[in-house]
Amino acid sequence: MNTEISLSPHEIPRQWLNIAPDLPGPKNPPLTANGIPLNPENLQLIFPQSLIEQEISTKRWIDIPQDILEVLSLWRPTPLKRAVNLEKILDTPARIYFKDESVSPPGSHKPNTAVAQAYYNHKEQVKCLTTETGAGQWGSALAFACAKFKLKCQVYMVNISYHQKPLRKTLMKIWGAHCLASPSDTTEFGRTIRNQHPESPGSLGIAISEALEKAMEDKSGETKYSLGSVLNMVMMHQSVIGLEAKKQLAKLGEAKVDTVIGCVGGGSNFAGLSFPYLLDKIHGEQIEIIPVEPTSCPTLTRGPYCYDFGDSAGMTPLLAMHSLGHQFIPAPIHAGGLRYHGMAPLVSQAVQAGLLSPQAFPQLQCYQAAVQFAFAEGIVVAPETSHALAAVIEQAEKAKKLGKPRVILFNLSGHGMLDLNAYEDYLNGKLTDHRLSPEKLNKSLEALSNFPKPECLINTG
Ligand SMILES: Cc1ncc(COP(=O)(O)O)c(C=O)c1O
Repeated sequence: MNTEISLSPHEIPRQWLNIAPDLPGPKNPPLTANGIPLNPENLQLIFPQSLIEQEISTKRWIDIPQDILEVLSLWRPTPLKRAVNLEKILDTPARIYFKDESVSPPGSHKPNTAVAQAYYNHKEQVKCLTTETGAGQWGSALAFACAKFKLKCQVYMVNISYHQKPLRKTLMKIWGAHCLASPSDTTEFGRTIRNQHPESPGSLGIAISEALEKAMEDKSGETKYSLGSVLNMVMMHQSVIGLEAKKQLAKLGEAKVDTVIGCVGGGSNFAGLSFPYLLDKIHGEQIEIIPVEPTSCPTLTRGPYCYDFGDSAGMTPLLAMHSLGHQFIPAPIHAGGLRYHGMAPLVSQAVQAGLLSPQAFPQLQCYQAAVQFAFAEGIVVAPETSHALAAVIEQAEKAKKLGKPRVILFNLSGHGMLDLNAYEDYLNGKLTDHRLSPEKLNKSLEALSNFPKPECLINTG
């Protein structure tokens, strides 16, 4: 039985898929803090023009420049594999496939957009990129991409992860980037947070504010900001994942996928795999598409659809998205990349249109799933990815109960070889589940009470 399909280098997609023009429902534009629609020119301080154009593009397909394809071809196309051993252990009639994004140099899907963003900045004479990182996967991906295009790179790493994952810093250093713990003393916002909460574990929202402040401080325009998720253009850069997966499944003779699953922090690896399938769903196909998040940071399952800032300091435009409130500080789980208060507007819009079925899982169930997968298939996945696995196993068990041979596809968004201390803690019984109390959530949402409200469809999901 053929259980792995690798495409040849010339089969890397030549165009990205932009789902924006096809998504049903009101298009709630980004707003300024005063509630008026944002003029895209206001973004020029932080992004190069070509990325701004992609962010607001209404074209379904956008060509990938040759220079980007050349760097992507260092590890793309990525393999698509069938998890036959997991199927056997679960004794399920389901056929489980995964797209292995862990084979990239930094070990995750993140360089798919990092390379594109570094390329366009380099083309527009930018010399330095600032960014945030949670668990360090995005920071190391951008460090790698900046090394490819000879840009400097300054990374604000969420404090708790900075100490939990020291080797991610080494990886960033190898590729020439500078990494600081956030909140730091190099920005006004970082200093304010440190004064108020000297022990702050940090959050992605705080680190984004610091990276933005640093980029805007440079009036020469040679420093810009780069974001590893959430934005429309990032979802689009990641679409190579799902476009490749479709070709690979077709080669394996799988004409139809029943369930597509990915973990969600800001939404990018999930969107990358699922949006090509979402396009089919919008045009009539029956596919269940499941974004999976931690119960400790349940943005899609418990956060309202609202206008909110993308960062803690309120420096970004107001985005229409599911959110837990921009000052929300999630519990310090090891899946640092999922500790984000907001969600990509495109993923949020798809949830609103009833096209996605979000689920949340507690961390112990996720580690249990990850260890089971490592036993079965040999791959130790990133703590973020373990959330997708918890949902995959649940779906495979459901298929067994129903006696249905469903086809399940999930994104293996990254490996966990630099997260082994998280597994050590899990195996030593040191991890617990965190449930977000309604009081903490309501308190955090109070800050949004005076913000404009996005237009909504009636959710039929
Ligand atoms: C391996 C991995 N998976 C998933 C995520 C979540 O991010 P996103 O939702 O943008 O894919 C991250 C973020 O750092 C990550 O490192």
